[in-house]
Amino acid sequence: MVQICKRQVCTLLPKSDCIFLLLPVLVFIFTIYIMDILEVRTHFYLLNSIQLNFIYIEALEENLLLNSTAWPETPSLSSPLFLSNTSDAAHSTFTILPSIREGQWRVGDKLEALIKIHDFKGRPKKFGGDVLFAKLHNPTLGAGVVGQVVDHLNGSYSAEFSILWEGSAQVEVTLVHPSEAVRVLHRLNREQPDRIYFKSQFRSGSVTETTICNVCLHSAQQPVCNYTELLTGEPWFCYKPKNLNCDARINHFTGGFKENITAIEKQLFQRGVNMKVSIPASGPANITVLPKRKGKTFFFNNKIQNVESGTSGYYYEGVWRALYGTTVREFKTSSAITQCLKDKVVHLHGDSTIRQWFEYLTKAVPDLKEFNLHSQKKIGPLMALDNANNILVTYRCHGPPIRFSKVPTSELLYIANKLDNVVGGSNTVIVLSIWSHFSTYPIQFYIRRLQSIRRAVVRLLSRAPDTLVVIRSANPKALITLYDALTVSDWYSLQRDKVLRAMFKGVNVHLVDAWEMVLAHHLPHDLHPPPPIIKNMVNVLLSYICPRRRKPKRC
Ligand SMILES: *[C@@H]1O[C@H](CO)[C@@H](O)[C@H](O)[C@H]1NC(C)=O
Ligand SMILES: *[C@@H]1O[C@H](CO)[C@@H](O)[C@H](O)[C@H]1NC(C)=O
Ligand SMILES: *[C@@H]1O[C@H](CO)[C@@H](O)[C@H](O)[C@H]1NC(C)=O
Ligand SMILES: *[C@@H]1O[C@H](CO)[C@@H](O)[C@H](O)[C@H]1NC(C)=O
Ligand SMILES: *[C@@H]1O[C@H](CO)[C@@H](O)[C@H](O)[C@H]1NC(C)=O
Ligand SMILES: *[C@@H]1O[C@H](CO)[C@@H](O)[C@H](O)[C@H]1NC(C)=O
Repeated sequence: MVQICKRQVCTLLPKSDCIFLLLPVLVFIFTIYIMDILEVRTHFYLLNSIQLNFIYIEALEENLLLNSTAWPETPSLSSPLFLSNTSDAAHSTFTILPSIREGQWRVGDKLEALIKIHDFKGRPKKFGGDVLFAKLHNPTLGAGVVGQVVDHLNGSYSAEFSILWEGSAQVEVTLVHPSEAVRVLHRLNREQPDRIYFKSQFRSGSVTETTICNVCLHSAQQPVCNYTELLTGEPWFCYKPKNLNCDARINHFTGGFKENITAIEKQLFQRGVNMKVSIPASGPANITVLPKRKGKTFFFNNKIQNVESGTSGYYYEGVWRALYGTTVREFKTSSAITQCLKDKVVHLHGDSTIRQWFEYLTKAVPDLKEFNLHSQKKIGPLMALDNANNILVTYRCHGPPIRFSKVPTSELLYIANKLDNVVGGSNTVIVLSIWSHFSTYPIQFYIRRLQSIRRAVVRLLSRAPDTLVVIRSANPKALITLYDALTVSDWYSLQRDKVLRAMFKGVNVHLVDAWEMVLAHHLPHDLHPPPPIIKNMVNVLLSYICPRRRKPKRC
C-alpha cells in the first residue's frame, strides 16, 4: 500500500510490490489499452473488461513517471561550513563551443554551450542536480529560443540551442537553484506536505465553525470529515467541527503557510546569489548568425524524435512560432478572434493562469460581454457571451487544493467530474491548466489527479471525438522570496510539467507550451505572464481552433 503522505489520515491506493516483475507484460497491456481507447472509440465497453488491470497499469505508470522525474542525488551536507561547498553562480561560467563548420554559424545549425558549476570557493562541483535554464535571444529582434540543458552529473552541463534567425544571438544561462536547494525542496514535500494548509467554514443557522483541511491531516485522534470524491477517488479531509456535521461545510479557502527550515537552509535561497541568478560567460556570450546554407532544407526533427526535451517553438519579432505541428496564426483584431470563435463554446478550467485567458479574451473582444454571475472576479465561475455570434466562454477553478479565497462548496468541483458533464462535439473547446497548486505535495498526488483527468478526457473524446481539448503547460515564475521558492519553486513546476506532458502523450489533446513561451521571452518570468505572452498563448489556442486551411495541392 502506498500513501501520498506518511503517518497521516489519507486515502490509500493499492499497489503491487511485484510490479517490476510484471513490467514488460504491463507495458504491452498498457499499449494495447491506449490503442483501444484511442482508436476503437465506439467500443467503450472494453474499458470495463480491463478495469481490473487498470489500477495496476496506473500504478505502473506512476512508477515510470517517478523514475522519469527522479532528480540526481546530492550528497548530504551536515557540516556548518557547508554553504561554501554549494553551487555559486558568480564562480560558475559558461562557454560557447566553437562551431564545427568553419567557425561560422548559420540558420539551421545547432549551438552548444558548456556550463561549469563551481562552489563559493571557486572549486569545481563534482556532482550534478543544479537547476539551470538557458536561452538564446536577441531582444532587439524580439527573438528567443529555449536551450535544452543536459546534466553530465559531474558538475558540468551542456546547453543546446537551435539557431533560428540571422544576426546577433546571445546566450543567457541562469542558475535557478543549486542542487543543495533541490534537496531541501524535495525533503519538504516528503516531510511537510501540509505546509500550505486550507480551511473550511461550516454553518448551520447561527452557528459557524472553521476547521483545517488538507489532502492529509496529522492527528488520527481527532475526528475528521472525509470529502474524498467517490468517482475519481480524489482525497480531501477537514477536521470535524465540534458542534456541526460534516455536510454543513459551506466553503474552502487557503488557511496559511508554515515555514519550517533551518537558518543555514535559508541561505540556499538567496535572490541574486544562488536563486534565479545569471551565470557569467567565460568568453563571448553572443554570436553572429549568417543566412542558412544554400540547398540545405530547413528541417527540425528533434521534436519528433524527442517530444519531451525538444524545442517546441521560438519568438521572432515578438511573435511565437511553432517548430512543428500547427502553424501559429496571428489574430490581430477583435473581429479575427470573433470569426474564429463563432458558434463555439470554450470552457476554461483550472487555476488563475487560465483565468488570465478569460480576462484577455473579454478585453480583446468588446462584443464578448462578461455576464454577471455574482461570483468573485478572482474565483469565478465566470462567463462571457457574444449573442450575435453565438459564442460562450466560461472559466471555472479546479478543485482542492486550489489556493483561492473562499470558494463556495457548490463551486468546488474537480475537472474530471465537470468533464463528465460536457456533451462535447465540434463546437466545444476545453482548455485545462492545472499545476501550480500541487507544488507542495509529493508528485504522486499530482500524478493521480492527472490520471483521473485523463480518464475523463478519454471518456469525452470517446463519446465526442470532435471535441478540441487543449492543455496549457506550467511556466516558470519570479523567484524573489523564500516563500516563492518553498511554495511554487520552478523546480516543483518543472517536475510537474514533465509529468503533465508525459501523461497526455498519445491522447488526442493539444499543448500550449507555456513553459517555453515564458522562458524564451525577454520579459521577466512571472507566474502570471504579462499581456504580450498571453496574447501569443491565445494565438496558439485560436490556431488550434481555427487552423490555417491548407492550399489544395496541384497535381
Ligand atoms: C529508471 O529507468 C532507468 C532506465 O529505464 C533504469 O535504468 C533505472 O533502474 C530506473 N530507476 C528506477 C528507480 O526504477
Ligand atoms: C567541502 O569541499 C571540500 C573540497 O571539495 C571537502 O574537502 C570538504 O570535505 C567539503 N565539506 C563538506 C562539509 O562537505
Ligand atoms: C563530465 O562529463 C562529461 C560527459 O560525460 C565529459 O565530457 C566531461 O569531460 C566531464 N567533466 C569532468 C570535469 O569530468
Ligand atoms: C475516505 O473515504 C474514501 C471513500 O469512501 C475511503 O475509500 C477512504 O478509506 C476514507 N478514508 C479515511 C481515512 O477514512
Ligand atoms: C519542523 O520540521 C521538523 C523536521 O521536518 C519537524 O520534526 C518539526 O516537527 C517541524 N516543526 C513544526 C513546528 O512543524
Ligand atoms: C556581441 O554583443 C556586443 C554588445 O552587445 C556587440 O558589441 C558585439 O558586436 C556582439 N558580437 C557579435 C559576434 O555579435
